[in-house]
Amino acid sequence: MASLGVNIDHIANVRQARRTVEPDPVSYALLAELGGADGITVHLREDRRHIQDRDVELLRHTVRSRLNLEMAATAEMEAIALRIKPDMVTLVPEKREEVTTEGGLNVAGQLESLKGLVGRLQDGGIGVSLFVDADAPQLEACAASGARWVELHTGTYAEASWEQQPLELARLTEGSFIARSLGLRVNAGHGLTYQNVEPVAAIEGMEELNIGHTIVARALAVGLQQAVKEMKALVQNPRRDPLFGSRHP
Ligand code: PXP
Repeated sequence: MASLGVNIDHIANVRQARRTVEPDPVSYALLAELGGADGITVHLREDRRHIQDRDVELLRHTVRSRLNLEMAATAEMEAIALRIKPDMVTLVPEKREEVTTEGGLNVAGQLESLKGLVGRLQDGGIGVSLFVDADAPQLEACAASGARWVELHTGTYAEASWEQQPLELARLTEGSFIARSLGLRVNAGHGLTYQNVEPVAAIEGMEELNIGHTIVARALAVGLQQAVKEMKALVQNPRRDPLFGSRHP
């Protein structure tokens, strides 16, 4: 059964729209945990467009589930991670001009430098996950980097037409199989919604799904605690049939 990591970047997005103190992602993390979040995920971006250093520091003290810090593979972020010590670091590609993370990390193209970073983070007692596309060469490079986890990029699946979606789901299923046969543990995320999450949650070996936008959007209607509760029910008890009909509450 997959667990649910809740990405609360969008709570900080609303705060930063006015550069004020509310809504505070730290208190919303607590609500997410009350709704059943198994982990809290934040992305500290180089441009600090949403999550701030202060948020990560406070969350380290308040999160009672697991704190997963998404970050770029830079010296600045490495120093922050080693000081704050989240439970997990997920390394993601980052471009200043992007609206959100686009595509997976090119692990194969920077294997030697990533090996060093992964080793230093793990020596610091932090689990490391690499956000990658479900491609065999990238997954092999992930295993070679020494990281124990991968997060399969589900954005292409999420954006695919209904005709293409089964093919993208098959790619993710195969990616999960390849990763596990290389000794890696498997998470997934990006672009998942109440409508498309169940087939991904049902993939064999899937350990955790990281989901943000759709939960925060639903929270506007029902509150964050309830929105997380509804997503957790889908993640824990997905239908296994291939029809992507909505079971949205
Ligand atoms: N996983 C990773 C690596 C991400 O970068 C993001 C977006 O910050 C997510 C999961 C969550 O994506 P979404 O907000 O589309 O659910």
